[in-house]
Amino acid sequence: MSLTTLAARRDLSFHLHPASNLRQVQDEGPLVITRGEGVYVYDDEGRRYLEGMAGLWCASLGFSERRLADAAYRQMCELPFYHSFAGKVPAVSAELAERLIGIAPPGMARALFANSGSEANDTAIKLAWYINNALGRPQKKKIIARQRAYHGVTIATASLTGLAFAHTDFDLPIARILHTDCPHYYRGARAGESEEAFAARLADSLEEMIAREGPDTVAAFFAEPVMGAGGVIVPPATYFDRIQPILKKHEILFVADEVICGFGRTGNMFGSQTFDLQPDIITVAKALSAGYQPISANLVSGKVYDILLAQSDKLGIFGHGYTYSSHPVPAAVALETLKIYAERNIVDAVRRVGPRMQAGIRSYADHPLIGEARGIGLIGAVEVVRNKSTKESFDPKAGVAAYLVRRAQHHGAILRNMPGDIVAFSPPLIISEAEVDEMLACFGKALDDTWVMVREKGLA
Ligand SMILES: Cc1ncc(COP(=O)(O)O)c(C=O)c1O
Repeated sequence: MSLTTLAARRDLSFHLHPASNLRQVQDEGPLVITRGEGVYVYDDEGRRYLEGMAGLWCASLGFSERRLADAAYRQMCELPFYHSFAGKVPAVSAELAERLIGIAPPGMARALFANSGSEANDTAIKLAWYINNALGRPQKKKIIARQRAYHGVTIATASLTGLAFAHTDFDLPIARILHTDCPHYYRGARAGESEEAFAARLADSLEEMIAREGPDTVAAFFAEPVMGAGGVIVPPATYFDRIQPILKKHEILFVADEVICGFGRTGNMFGSQTFDLQPDIITVAKALSAGYQPISANLVSGKVYDILLAQSDKLGIFGHGYTYSSHPVPAAVALETLKIYAERNIVDAVRRVGPRMQAGIRSYADHPLIGEARGIGLIGAVEVVRNKSTKESFDPKAGVAAYLVRRAQHHGAILRNMPGDIVAFSPPLIISEAEVDEMLACFGKALDDTWVMVREKGLA
C-alpha cells in the first residue's frame, strides 16, 4: 500500500474503487500494480507478490503470456471491431464458438457471447423468462439461487447473489428471485449428520420451496459447481445427484455458473464434469480469455436453442445482444487461450499440482485458528474461527481474516478474504509445485502473525 507514488495520488483523487472499503482505500492508499511475470505481479515500488487468486479467479495463464498479447495485436490490425447483430459475425468469433462447443460438456449446441460473468448470468435469466413465454407458461418465471451464491452484480444477478453486501441499500433482491440453502456441510450439517444425509435434507428443502411456490411458477435454478466468492464451498457428496432429478421433474432449467469453475479450475475442463451435471445453460467468463480480455458466453443446449429458433420465427428477431457481443479482439484472445489449454493440457496440469495445494491447505487444519480447510483442484479456502470445537466465529468487526490477508501480502502473496473470515486460494493454473509451496509458506507466516495478534488483543 502506498500513499506516495504518483499513481496512488491519482487513484486517491479520481478513482472510485469497485468492491472496496472506500474509507480504507482513502486512509491506507491503493496497492498499485504495474506489471506481471508468470504467477507474480509487481507494485509501483518494485515489490513482488505471488498472485494466489489469479487476480479475480481469472488469470489462469499468469500475467505474461505473450501469445495472448500477440493474438490481440494481430486481431486489432486485421479487424478491430465488428459485431454479430442482423446475421453478421467476425470470422474469429465463429471459430471461437465452434471451439467452445467442441470442448463443452455433451449437449451444448450454441454459444452466445457477452462481456462479463454478470452479463452472461443476466442473459441466462432473460433466456429462462423468454423460453417460458415461448412455451406458453407466462407464470413460470421465478429463479432459485442459493444463499452465499455469487452470480454477479447487475440488478438481476446481484439479486441472484446470496450475499448481503450485494443487496444492502441497493434495494435488492428484485421480485421473483428466491434463495435456497447453501450446501456447506461444515456450517450447515446437524450433529452426526452424514454428507449424504445433509445433501438429502437440502434437496428436500429445495423441493419443499418449489412445492410452496408452485412448480409452475419456477423457471430456473442457478448454481456454481463450487461456490467461489461465497467462500469456496465444495458441495457435499450426492448433493447435485439429488438436486438434478427434482429440477427435471418440475421442468426447471438448470443454469450452471461456470464463471470460476470453467476451464480446468476443479481438475476437469468444466465443473459440470467434476460433479456430473447436465445443465441446460452454462455460463463462462474469466478463464475463457485467461482474464486478458473481457468476454463471457452462454452455452445453451440444443433443446434451448430450438426454442429460441422457433420464437425468433414467431417474433421476427431474437431481441437480445450487446454492441460488444462477439467482439473480435476478446474472441481472438479467448481462441488463443483455448489453444494453449489444449497444447499444454491445462486439465492435467491442475490434476498434477492441485493435490499439492490441497494437501498444503489441509496441513493447516490442526491450527487452533482454522475451523475448516477445503477445496478441489486449484481452488481452496480456510475458514478462520475463534473456537475450533464450537466453530464459533470471531466478531466480524475484528477483521481477523482481513488481517491475515494483509499479513500474507506483507510476506509476498496476494490472497483474498471473504465474509465469514474465509481466506481463499485460486492461483493461476500454470502455478508450479514450488510456487504453491511459496504461496502456502506466505500464508503460514501470516497465520502465525494472526495468532499472535489474536492473543495479544485477547480475541481468542
Ligand atoms: C461464479 C461467478 N459468477 C459470476 C461472476 C460475475 O462475473 P463478472 O465480475 O465478470 O461480472 C463472478 C465473479 O467473480 C463469479 O465468480
